[in-house]
This record gives sequence, structure tokens and C-alpha cells, in this order.
Amino acid sequence: MSTRKTRIGIIGAGPAGLMLSHLLHLSGIDNVVLEARPREYVENRIRAGILEYEVAQLLRETGLGARMDAEGARHDGTNFLVDGVLHHIDFQALVGKHVMLWSQHEVVRDLIAARLAAGGEIVFEAGDVAVHDYEAGSPLITYTKDGVECRLHCEIIAGCDGFHGICRQAFPSGMIVEYDRVYPFGWLGILAEAAPSADELIYANHKDGFALLSMRSPSISRLYLQCAPDEALAAWPDERVWEELARRLGHEGFSLNTGRIFQKSVTAMRSYVAEPMQLGRLFLAGDAAHIVPPTGAKGLNSAIADVVSLHRAIDAYMRHQDDRGLNEYTQRCLKRIWQIERFSWWMTSMMHKFDHHAPFDARMQTAELNYILTSPAGQMTLAENYVGLPLHEYHRS
Ligand code: APR
Ligand code: PHB
Repeated sequence: MSTRKTRIGIIGAGPAGLMLSHLLHLSGIDNVVLEARPREYVENRIRAGILEYEVAQLLRETGLGARMDAEGARHDGTNFLVDGVLHHIDFQALVGKHVMLWSQHEVVRDLIAARLAAGGEIVFEAGDVAVHDYEAGSPLITYTKDGVECRLHCEIIAGCDGFHGICRQAFPSGMIVEYDRVYPFGWLGILAEAAPSADELIYANHKDGFALLSMRSPSISRLYLQCAPDEALAAWPDERVWEELARRLGHEGFSLNTGRIFQKSVTAMRSYVAEPMQLGRLFLAGDAAHIVPPTGAKGLNSAIADVVSLHRAIDAYMRHQDDRGLNEYTQRCLKRIWQIERFSWWMTSMMHKFDHHAPFDARMQTAELNYILTSPAGQMTLAENYVGLPLHEYHRS
């Protein structure tokens, strides 16, 4: 048995847990991260790849921007393809901001490297992680490491353990209200050794279903197709994937680059919010508290927004015994989270084929797209949300 103390016990080494650990370290607040998976697994987990303007700024300001600026790409706009017509949305012209194309697993790699270089502690392959006594004010986390039972005493527990983690489950039953929307489709995603066929992303609304052209580097394409939520990969040999992508993304002057597909998977899609996000000294952040469908790439960005708020609240408490930020954490986070939920749901609703749509619904979807893509006010709405709502405005008291 090993027993130790830290100030903040963080469960989960995804973007939320690692970024919180990094921010706390920069404020001189001792913390330990406990992660169920091995380091290699966490560093290679394939997720989305768009960072909001302020999230990219935050990485730079906290010493994590070098590789992103050297190897990632700045995107000043994006494209929407509707009925074979391409509409360009110029973020820079509309709202004076851009986004960064930089994969989530690269952010995670840089965060882990920074934490370890600074002497931070991340316990990978922590087993049977459980939280105790967080309502009473002297929280304890128990776990096993290499067969040894460990006890970590702390002042605050941050539940950054993703949608399937244990922290949300630890709330007494009936205390959490869940808001949920499961979509009747998923995305089949591939990574391929193919130079991106466009400089910026293309979100396509096609009569046979949504498609998305994205990228990871000058030689790697990331592409998605709308499919059934439980689609069998066996039904999608590589030739079929390329044929379908070429059809859904096709437009004048475009030709799809193809190459070896080295990763293929299906992701189901849902919107989900759990309220409240705190109980006593246990605070949830990121996917542990909310999920968005990937249309608009808000998952990582909203996880970072939560921990920016949690870090501020913890810092004010530790430095000045000011517990307003902690007490109001749920309320402050949820204001922004529901905006992100709205945007992701709206993008998803606008861009996908819904089999149950009545002819009226289908016409409404077309009318909405026409308005958004051609009216300056519509384009502005899209751009403002895509580059990201302010991180801090929502957290002022
Ligand atoms: N004990 C310790 N760690 C755990 C446990 C547990 N019981 N359960 C889960 N974890 C770990 C997972 O292995 C994972 O590494 O918690 C981490 C949670 O990380 P993410 O799922 O990446 O969640 P988050 O940090 O909130 O980031 C949100 O990830 O799911 C994507 O699209 C989403 O981009 C968004 C981002
Ligand atoms: C991705 O590159 O994986 C990506 C980009 C934009 C999205 C979703 C995913 O909206």
C-alpha cells in the first residue's frame, strides 16, 4: 500500500486532464494525473483536428505552440458544398480570426512531453481508479499500479475521464439530469496516404449523405462519409469508400486524390450534457460531462474551455480563498457548453441526410443552407461559431 498527497487529483490524460495539469503547474499548483491506458495508446488515439482561434492562442501562450505552428496549418476559411456548388466561408474577412489544423493526438503528445519535462506526474495504466469522500471535503482517490494499492489524498478531484469514465458515475443516482440526442447516423472515417485534394476543408451536403474532406499533413488526407451508426466496415472495401467520396465531394474543377487507406473506423454521433458538473470537491470537465457530434469539431475545444474555467476557479481559491469560481463552476461552464451544443447540433442537422425527413423538412434544410451560405449575416454566424466563442467572456461573474 502506498499513501500520498497532492493538491489536485486529476483523473484522465485526455486533452482536458492534461491541459488542466499543465495550467495548474504554471500556477505552481501541485497535481497528479491518473490515466487508465498506456502512454502509447493515449498518444496515438485518432480524434478530430481543428483548434479554435483562442485555443491555439492558449497553446502558444503556455509554451505549447511550436510544433503546431511549424507542422500544423492555419486555415483562414472553410468550404461548404451544396448541390454541387462550392461556397467559401472566409473566416478572416468575416470575423478576423482563423483556426488551426492540428490533430488532437499531437496536442496530447506535446502536453505529455511538457508535463514530464517539468517533473509532472502522470500515472499511466492506473487500475481500478475510484473516488471517495469528495462530498465531505477531504477527497481521496484509490487506484492500483503494478499490483500495488495506492491512496492519493487531495483537496480537489478533477474528473477528466471522458464519457465512459467513473467520475460522472460516482454522483448519487438521480442527482444528474442528462440531456441527450442520438443521431440516426454515424461517420465512416479514413486516414489515407494521399495529398489533400483541397487547401481547406470541404463540408458536403449531398443527396446521398454528408461527406467531409479534411487533412492531417501535406501527404495525409482525413475523409469522412455519413453512414449508419452501426455500419459494418466489411461493407466498405477501399474502392467503395473512394467511389462514394468522389461522388459526394465532386464539383467543377475538383478531383479527389486517392492513396493507401491505413485507418478506417465508424463513429456513432450524439449530443449529450450532464448537469450539474460538480458535487462537493469533485468537478467534471470535457467529455466526462458533455459530448457533441463531430460536425464543427468542437469536442476538444469545449474540453479546453472547461479546464480554463476550472483552472481559474482553483487558482482563485488556492491563492485568495475565493471560492466563487468553484461554487459557480457548473453555471459558468454550461452557458458556453450549451452554445457549443447548439452549434454542433445545428451543423449536424443542416449537413446530413435524414431518412425520416418529410418533404417539408428537406425544403427547410435547403432554405437554411441557402440563407447561411449566401447572406453576410448567415456567413458571419457560421464563422463566429466555427472559429470559437470567447473562452473567458462566459466565465465572468
Ligand atoms: N481511470 C483513469 N482514466 C480513465 C478512466 C478511469 N476509470 N476512464 C477513462 N479514463 C481516461 C481515458 O483513457 C482517456 O484517456 O480518461 C481520458 C479521457 O480523455 P478523452 O476521452 O480524450 O476526453 P477529454 O479529455 O474530455 O477530451 C475531449 O476527446 O473524445 C474526444 O472528441 C472528444 O475531442 C474531444 C476530447
Ligand atoms: C477532422 O479533421 O478530423 C475533422 C475536421 C472537422 C470536423 C470534424 C473532424 O468538423
